[in-house]
Amino acid sequence: METITMRQAKDFVGQEVYMNAWVTNKRSSGKIAFLQLRDGVAFFQGVVLKNDVSEEVFDLAKSLNQETSIKIRGIIQEDSRSNLGYELLVKDIQVIGESHDYPITPKEHGTDFLMDHRHLWLRSSKQHAIMQVRNEIIRATYEYMNQEGFIKVDPPILTGSAPEGTTELFHTKYFDEDAFLSQSGQLYMEAAAMAFGKVFSFGPTFRAEKSKTRRHLIEFWMMEPEMAFVEHEESLQIQEQYVAYIVRNVIDHCQLALKTLGRDTEQLEKYTKTPYPRISYTEAIELLNKNGFDDIKWGDDFGSPHETFIASQYEQPIFITNYPKDIKPFYMKLNPEDPSTVLCADMIAPEGYGEIIGGSERIVDYDLLAENIKKFGLSEDAYGWYMDLRKYGSVPHSGFGIGLERAVAWLTGIEHIRETSAFPRLLNRIYP
Ligand code: 4AD
Ligand code: MG
Repeated sequence: METITMRQAKDFVGQEVYMNAWVTNKRSSGKIAFLQLRDGVAFFQGVVLKNDVSEEVFDLAKSLNQETSIKIRGIIQEDSRSNLGYELLVKDIQVIGESHDYPITPKEHGTDFLMDHRHLWLRSSKQHAIMQVRNEIIRATYEYMNQEGFIKVDPPILTGSAPEGTTELFHTKYFDEDAFLSQSGQLYMEAAAMAFGKVFSFGPTFRAEKSKTRRHLIEFWMMEPEMAFVEHEESLQIQEQYVAYIVRNVIDHCQLALKTLGRDTEQLEKYTKTPYPRISYTEAIELLNKNGFDDIKWGDDFGSPHETFIASQYEQPIFITNYPKDIKPFYMKLNPEDPSTVLCADMIAPEGYGEIIGGSERIVDYDLLAENIKKFGLSEDAYGWYMDLRKYGSVPHSGFGIGLERAVAWLTGIEHIRETSAFPRLLNRIYP
């Protein structure tokens, strides 16, 4: 007899099978016991009929504690009431591992308690659904990038460069030298683009963000494409196509997960339509000032209420383009139409999820780059290799970075980014 997972149930209707599972909940009345089960793949129901099994098995079913692991034998039946459409008519139960006093019960728990038990909280149906969506975004990302001819290059995590400014760096020792944990692989990806044309990275990045918000993690995953011979406008088109692609795939491949999360797919459908609206930084400031935001003026960076308001004027994700050069990193190309701004854009997600992508065209000219490195107080020694890229066949190039966890939070519709990572690193929290 085969041991199957719940995902295979459709091929085994009416057949007797073994399944491995954990008990998430149970209820019984007289002659029937219902076991709520999960096998890691799905959540489903096992039905135990008193008249159908030995007394021992029925008593065992009634006594199973939450999170006991079991091997069960039973018959797969169709069940229109269950999410999956199938349930298991149980014939026999063997306990694999007992469970006593499982701390997370079906009642409500506070966030701190759940975060302290993150290693167990992951077993819940909501967390399961979020990780499915995360996994799908990763899968669709690789698919899209491969289809579009990008190759994956992995930048180092231990580095001596600080592309996004020096205030949020994690310092470490690299033997006798000083080093940081990477806050972005971009500079290395620029070198890779000059070698391989279109490249992308996908890996962990680190920022010692001192702010406690629902959008910031200390350790997060970023996907960073970098493209030789691609200018700003073309980069924006690639960004919107890519984002629309992952939204499409999440809608198509995560139906159960989205249902579990109560995520309205009609809403998500709107995000599959491109192009996405564009508004310049200057226009955005005017829009804010006209709408009663008098706490911000030209030259200031947006806070999340500002981003949320601007995005709320549109139905899709939007690009805010051409920020002032003084609030953006040293590597961005000046906007030839207004050199107080740069050729960059942030993609702002709707529904208050804020910036999900930051990107720009990069400086091509050696002297301009050298000047900026000085101006930003960066060491020319540490960036010698990066300057070299402008010495030997420098070409226009652009790239961007999307924060995986921000994208997951947005597409799942969850309140806080901490639930998008299996073991999130947050301000003052490194346990578990
Ligand atoms: O806008 P950022 O800082 O851009 C860069 O790092 C560029 N070097 C990317 C590039 O052009 N290759 O970060 C990019 C994205 C943000 O839009 C956001 O989605 C995410 O990374 N991000 C964070 N996500 C979670 N927690 C944080 N603390 C984040 N900081 C940035
Ligand atoms: Mg940014």
